[in-house]
Amino acid sequence: MRLFVAILLSEEMKDALIAAQNEMYDRGVRGNFSPDENLHLTLAFIGELPDAEPVFDALEEIAFTPFQLTLEGLGCFGDLRWAGLRESVPLVAVARRLRRALAEHGVPFDKKRFSPHITLLRKASGPMPGIELRPATMTVSAISLMRSDRGRNGMIYTEICRKEAGKAR
Ligand code: 2AM
Repeated sequence: MRLFVAILLSEEMKDALIAAQNEMYDRGVRGNFSPDENLHLTLAFIGELPDAEPVFDALEEIAFTPFQLTLEGLGCFGDLRWAGLRESVPLVAVARRLRRALAEHGVPFDKKRFSPHITLLRKASGPMPGIELRPATMTVSAISLMRSDRGRNGMIYTEICRKEAGKAR
C-alpha cells in the first residue's frame, strides 16, 4: 500500500482553499484541482510499504501538543499550485520528530526537505494569478497516517491511523 503522513484540515481552512481554487478557475486557470476531500498537508511521504506496523509504532512515539496553523500565500512548483502556511516552529518540529521516528523504525520515506504546502492544483495551465487567500487558522490536534489508492476518478485518500496531540502543560 502507498502511505503518507499528513495533517487533515478543518472545514474552515478547506473553505478558504476551495474559494482560492474557485477564483483560479474563474480567472481561466485549468488543470487537475484537488478535490475538497483530498486537501491536506503532507508531513512525510512514505510510498509503497507492504506492512504499516512500523509506521504505527513510529507514530506512537511522537509527542506533540496542539498548535496553530495559518494559511499564508500561494506558490508553485512547476505546474503545481499550492497554498502555503505561516512559518511555524511546532509544525517543523513535529515533521522532524516524525521523520526521525520513521527512520528509527526502518520506514523509508522521501528525504526531500520539508516544505509545508497544500496542493490546490496539478498540471496547471497559465501563470499564477494574483489572488488573495481568505485568512484561515486551525488548531492541529492530530496527525494522520493516510493510504493512497488510485480510484476511477483520481486518488482516494483514507486515514488508517491517527496520533492525537497530548495535553499542553
Ligand atoms: P504534493 O501534493 O506536493 O504532490 C500524497 O501523494 C501526498 O504526498 C501529496 O501531498 C504529495 O505532495 C506528497 N508527496 C511528497 N513526496 C512525494 C513523492 N515523492 N511522490 C508522491 N507524493 C509525494
